[in-house]
Amino acid sequence: MDNIKTKDLLKIKHLLGIKGMCREDLELILKTSASFKQILDTPNKKVAALKGITVVNMFFENSTRTKLSFEMAEKRLSADVVNFAASSSSLKKGETLIDTARNIEAMKIDMVVMRHSTPGAHKMLLDNLDSVIINAGDGAHEHPTQAILDLMTIDEKIPDLRGKRVTLVGDIIHSRVAMSNIHALQLYGAKVQLCGPATLIPKGIEKLGVEVTYDLEEAIKNSDVMNILRIQLERHVGPSFPSLREYHNFWGITNEKLSKAKNDILILHPGPMNRGVEIDDDVADGDHQVILEQVLNGVASRMAILYLLSANIGGIK
Ligand code: CP
Repeated sequence: MDNIKTKDLLKIKHLLGIKGMCREDLELILKTSASFKQILDTPNKKVAALKGITVVNMFFENSTRTKLSFEMAEKRLSADVVNFAASSSSLKKGETLIDTARNIEAMKIDMVVMRHSTPGAHKMLLDNLDSVIINAGDGAHEHPTQAILDLMTIDEKIPDLRGKRVTLVGDIIHSRVAMSNIHALQLYGAKVQLCGPATLIPKGIEKLGVEVTYDLEEAIKNSDVMNILRIQLERHVGPSFPSLREYHNFWGITNEKLSKAKNDILILHPGPMNRGVEIDDDVADGDHQVILEQVLNGVASRMAILYLLSANIGGIK
């Protein structure tokens, strides 16, 4: 825990996405996350690191894990926490996002955590506020804190990812988790493979330096880690496959299909899970999965991100 007494500085001043981040910043976040994870294991679970700092959580899309784990991380750091509920706010009377955010900032808040369905919405906050901005998911663009907690979970089991193959399975085209994971895993030297039906993999995505396969059996055989993504029906504009039952038959991860995998394959799922669609119960609750470890690491890594970025409060944009 000693290494969180001195605040090392991140090169980033806000966290809008993993794209463009450097490996040193990710390493510092992971190192700090490990220290905060130890604190979560103590009876008190709390430190005074953000005492006097006020954080507002603005969620314009549904969330369980991200919203609660940010709130928990803020409280564990002793920050003052305000939760903004879009559905009961004056946005419903026609106020703009920027006016809303500027009014909240006028009440002396220091950091804004926002989830929004519009890709790039956080840039509007960046351009109009002095607060530190953290992206909790923007449309199908990025979900940087999810990628960081996924990376932390993988790093705990596989400390050297160089040359290891991590496969993202399923609805890649609608997934902000996939985009952020690709950038984070590549910074750590992993081979990133995408696998799913052709309708759910963006054309030309190989330009990002990823491998693409439409052969699930092959992907299961050659992967060290599989991160299974939810079918995001709320983002689909037309049918991408005939039925959920068919999707499950072809692309759902079952113990039977995993019998061809390496003995120590690691299974992640960012949640929320659709059991019986992209993942079977016996995998979701099985020996290879680290799904609830991801959730715990979400609190520790969000504590680290809030703590490290708080160095910029009142300062540099
Ligand atoms: N993984 C994730 O973002 O979950 P929530 O939508 O519940 O926050």
